Amino acid sequence: MKVLMVCLGNICRSPLAHGILAYKAPHNWRIDSAGTSGWHQGERPDTRSIITAKGRGIAIDEQRSRPFEIEDFDRFDVIFAMDSSNFSNLTRIAPNAESAAKVKLIMNEIYPNENRQVPDPYTGGQNGFEKVFDMLDLAVDEFLKNNTNG
Ligand code: 4NP
Repeated sequence: MKVLMVCLGNICRSPLAHGILAYKAPHNWRIDSAGTSGWHQGERPDTRSIITAKGRGIAIDEQRSRPFEIEDFDRFDVIFAMDSSNFSNLTRIAPNAESAAKVKLIMNEIYPNENRQVPDPYTGGQNGFEKVFDMLDLAVDEFLKNNTNG
């Protein structure tokens, strides 16, 4: 299984989602993350994301931000958007229906069809990052439960 996590900057939410899934997934899975923008290309995740993940035993400081590329539609089986803005930006540039169908809102894993958002924690404090981690941790667990044998 090849899974790409996508948010706006690829420094706050999707690095956490990437780190959590990479930590828990079978080792032969390919996990990566990207941003719908290239604003933070080459940067480490936000320090608050690094601290939050580290507090839960997950290292994400080796990750580097990169923008989403059109080739990602072919590279990955599932492309998880954190919010509906990311979702619509991705589906709008999808070259065909098969590619568009790979894009899913990650919180729909736990709350199907509710289109819940992972809030952007960028302008808030550390607590927002902890909350985002908890949401993503549950969504990742549900995704793994439904896509592995145990
Ligand atoms: P992310 O958060 O999309 O979860 O990585 C953001 C990071 C940076 C900005 C916005 C959101 N920004 O405006 O630079």
